[in-house]
Amino acid sequence: MIPDQAPKEDVFLGCEEMKKEAHVPSFEKYKELYLKSIDNPDEFWGDVAKDFFWKTKHSGQFLDYNFDVTKGEIFVKCMEGASTNICYNLLDRNVHERKLGDKVAFYWEGNEPGDELTVTYRELLQRVCQFANVLKSQGVKKGDRVSIYMPMVVELVVAMLACVRIGAVHSIVFAGFSAESLCERILDSQCSLLVTADGFYRGDKLINLKFLADEALQKCRDKGFPVKRCIMLKHLSKEAEETPLGSHSPPAKRSCPDLQVPWNPDVDLCWHTLVHGASDECEPEWCESEDPLFILYTSGSTGKPKGVLHTVSGYMLYTAVTFKLVFDYQPDDVYWCTADIGWITGHSYITYGPLANGATSVLFEGLPTYPDVSRMWEIVDKYQVTKFYTAPTAIRLLMKYGSEPVQKYKRESLKVLGTVGEPINPEAWQWYYNVVGEKRCPIVDTFWQTETGGHVLTPLPAATPMKPGSATFPFFGVVPAILNESGEELEGPSEGYLVFKQPWPGVMRTVYGNQQRFETTYFKKFPGYYVTGDGCRRDKDGYYWITGRIDDMLNVSGHLLSTAEVESALVEHEVVAEAAVVGRPHPVKGESLYCFVTLTDGVTYNRALEAELRKQVREKIGAIATPDYIQEAPGLPKTRSGKIMRRVLRKIACDERDLGDISTLADSSVVDQLFQNRCCTV
Ligand code: PRX
Repeated sequence: MIPDQAPKEDVFLGCEEMKKEAHVPSFEKYKELYLKSIDNPDEFWGDVAKDFFWKTKHSGQFLDYNFDVTKGEIFVKCMEGASTNICYNLLDRNVHERKLGDKVAFYWEGNEPGDELTVTYRELLQRVCQFANVLKSQGVKKGDRVSIYMPMVVELVVAMLACVRIGAVHSIVFAGFSAESLCERILDSQCSLLVTADGFYRGDKLINLKFLADEALQKCRDKGFPVKRCIMLKHLSKEAEETPLGSHSPPAKRSCPDLQVPWNPDVDLCWHTLVHGASDECEPEWCESEDPLFILYTSGSTGKPKGVLHTVSGYMLYTAVTFKLVFDYQPDDVYWCTADIGWITGHSYITYGPLANGATSVLFEGLPTYPDVSRMWEIVDKYQVTKFYTAPTAIRLLMKYGSEPVQKYKRESLKVLGTVGEPINPEAWQWYYNVVGEKRCPIVDTFWQTETGGHVLTPLPAATPMKPGSATFPFFGVVPAILNESGEELEGPSEGYLVFKQPWPGVMRTVYGNQQRFETTYFKKFPGYYVTGDGCRRDKDGYYWITGRIDDMLNVSGHLLSTAEVESALVEHEVVAEAAVVGRPHPVKGESLYCFVTLTDGVTYNRALEAELRKQVREKIGAIATPDYIQEAPGLPKTRSGKIMRRVLRKIACDERDLGDISTLADSSVVDQLFQNRCCTV
């Protein structure tokens, strides 16, 4: 468990100055609050809930649950009997009760420097109400699912909160995903309406998003599911200049009058036309605590993505309190999370957590390397960012260019630095700490998942001594354990499966439409525990160190991909008979995709085919899944019972000749052949 005293050796202590005003100023205070959150959750969470507006109060215990499949259905219920509306809490409460109407909610920074926009809480509330009325006028009702496929623009937040206001369930699909992926997600969640945009720039690259959206809608129609309406925001075309959101002047680079936007008059509607004239008042729909809030898809080890379902009250409390304490949020902060809202990090820590606290955030459309590798630090200085949250892959990418592009800017405003998405290697941690934060800013290495809703293992910046690469200790209400293969809890320093023994308010409630899959994926292996799928080590001081996935998942640039998903995209090509995909360590992306493909008889492997296969995966899943290496495999190493030995393939991908025990291998000559023809370069 958590030690009484924090270790004093081999740790980084962070900033003394911060302790004066911090919400959790010492390790002792952290421990005291942690014990309270476990021993008396009703009181602990009751205090958190006091900050929010409840239409009706909850009755009974704060959390009710079953985590044991042998005792019946798995469930988590938080604050039963309470009703509220998150949009009301994020916007109306801040504007009316807390008098933050004129406070900036977002500094939007476009892909192109100089393209910018400021939106206050009052303006955001008006825009959300208008769009909520638009959704209602299109027949969207409480409980309906709405798909959102948009770039990083303020209207993405508007669309998501408009859904929340009327009790509709948003399903945001990252704009980097392919038409096929969008179609799959629309079908699974049975969305009646899609919100998208004409297009956007990512660096120099123009993405014609509407084109992809149309392709997805066509695929849905082909599969017998016609989506009734598609609302398109004009982000690049001329009308974008007249967008009613705040004041900004899109530079020539953004407005793109030549963009060919396909238009289907039976389905398509223009965002601007609909919003024009819509009332900016909209009574919120009061929702029960366990009403669905949103669905967000994450890769599943069988290949088919899982629709992770989060519900209203618990998620609101959890994202709000983790944001406040993990970033030690203070009212004059300017916070910047570089994630895309299409991922859980953007949901919880761009939209919900910061707005619940009345925070001012930067919302960035672009890339860390465009137009040059100083862009991040330029933005930090421009908005005087105090709390900054990014991914190890971005840190490693920028680290390659040395300290000079960082030092071109002052970064004096920075107070806390955060990371998320994958284990951070100590070298990248040190660079982040020494060069970016100039040894002044604590680093919060936050471990969590789409499923957990918010941070579950994390330092608190003024309380927890840091160890580079460790996500340190559990957040309040979270009880981790490490299990061995037989499911026994290990005590003290140990390594094994990371599991959680009880729920916290923000944990997922089910896999949308598939409770069975929810139970099998997370609760079946070790009854009584939520199984994260990650390996973990606990050191002598009780610190937790995530060692990486222990299932068939890969973490590419902080994004989870299942090997099965990539394999099925490859075998869909007519000349691929069989495919096996493994991870190979990559200096920037963490892991890269190394694919082995067995071709059908008589087909010869060549560069053109390789390019075709890459394209095939990109089109089926999205650019993040583009294979880094593809090797032709005349045969794959299999056990006598026909199971592919991925462990051996991983060794081949990394050129590690010590294969361990291969006595179950059916034909060892296959391995020699694969070693001989390994791919060394992309
Ligand atoms: O393997 C862990 C890794 O990312 C996985 C969750 O991915 P996803 O659901 O896409 O959510 C990512 C953003 C929360 C985890 O199972 N992971 C995430 N954060 C860390 C991490 N691994 C080590 N350290 C972290 N801080």
